[in-house]
Amino acid sequence: MAFGQDRHGRRRRALPLKASPAKSAAVLISGGGSNLQALIDATRDGLLALDIVVVVSNRPNVAGLDRARRAGIATECIVSTDFRSRDAFDKTLADALEAYRPNLLLLAGFMRILTPAFVRRYSGRILNIHPSLLPDYPGLDTHRRVLEAGDRWHGCTVHFVTEDLDGGPAVMQGRVPVLPDDNAERLAARVLTVEHRIYPQAAALLASGRLEWRNGSAWLDGKPLLKPLQLDSTP
Ligand code: GRF
Repeated sequence: MAFGQDRHGRRRRALPLKASPAKSAAVLISGGGSNLQALIDATRDGLLALDIVVVVSNRPNVAGLDRARRAGIATECIVSTDFRSRDAFDKTLADALEAYRPNLLLLAGFMRILTPAFVRRYSGRILNIHPSLLPDYPGLDTHRRVLEAGDRWHGCTVHFVTEDLDGGPAVMQGRVPVLPDDNAERLAARVLTVEHRIYPQAAALLASGRLEWRNGSAWLDGKPLLKPLQLDSTP
């Protein structure tokens, strides 16, 4: 029997007839977009099966929009300061996204709080990357607060977005030690390199369907995810 043939001499099919199509995602940014770049690179390198269909920024002229354009991804800029209310901004954002019909939303340095109505619309389909070991230090200025508290460890978390700010179920974390000569900038830079590693890994789990949202909780491989995965330790 020749390799690649069955015992009747028929060719074996190496791949399923139809591979399931990659999920699509919109990435929401407000600035430099280094996490966006990590996601783009991971899709290019075959580590993340995701079609990034649009990058939306709530601030104009940010470097992240250039990164998207260089990668040939559609961009939208919806300037949040042009809107009188959160509801009005989120309605416009939702309408803009509707044109691209993304399966998932990835918040990558997106410095806006989304309204409950918007979050419900994409319930279980939004991830965010936050620069702290949640539930410690939700909100802003995490690096400075960690230094002021004298913590020995800091890090970052990918979590599902819920109506509770930075409070949705954590999916993956990466830790970094706080060093004696750290200042907020040095610490932020060290955390950022870890963000670039955990976000594509966590997004890949959601995109593949291994990570799921069931009744307000994160599930991995059909079991409740009781504590966040640690960097590079995905089972
Ligand atoms: C990152 O630390 C992100 O977690 C935070 O904003 C920082 C900048 O991210 N929310 P990026 O370079 O724009 O991805």
